[in-house]
Amino acid sequence: MRIYIIGFMGSGKSTLGKPIARALGCNFYDLDNYIEQQMGSTIAAIFEQQGEAAFRALETKYLEELSAANENCVISTGGGTPCFGDNMEMINSLGMSVYLQQEVSVLTHRLLNSKISRPLIAGKTPEQLRSFIEQKLAEREPYYKRASITVADAERDASRIINVLKFST
Ligand code: S3P
Repeated sequence: MRIYIIGFMGSGKSTLGKPIARALGCNFYDLDNYIEQQMGSTIAAIFEQQGEAAFRALETKYLEELSAANENCVISTGGGTPCFGDNMEMINSLGMSVYLQQEVSVLTHRLLNSKISRPLIAGKTPEQLRSFIEQKLAEREPYYKRASITVADAERDASRIINVLKFST
């Protein structure tokens, strides 16, 4: 089984993806890290040098590539991955998806304290960040909600999520 972990920046996709993969005994991939390895460049540099549209094309390409090479795996996507092109259809046709739902206030707090460089939110004041998250989340939730299961913060337990996924196949 392929499991895709989706959700907004700062929702904890990689943090939860790792224990799920460990419990299943399969490989874990973080799509952003994989793109950086393949391109020999950082996400921030790709955005800066090639623009967002080029980055979105790379996301789709490497999501396809990783999926084709791994029948059993856990992949945490980038926050925007499911919301471009036919990526959400692709994700749901190749495996099960888990949406990590998170409140705007929690996302704002986490992203303000994160050390990861994220080009879409770089240089924003706390107020700007909060309204950016509100707006983007509203735009993206219709895609995220197409996931096989939606998981709230309090329900984040790797083995429980695996069980729910097994019963929903
Ligand atoms: C993005 C999220 C980032 C990364 C890029 C764009 C987005 O991934 O792919 O900075 O559009 O939400 P994370 O969700 O892992 O931060």
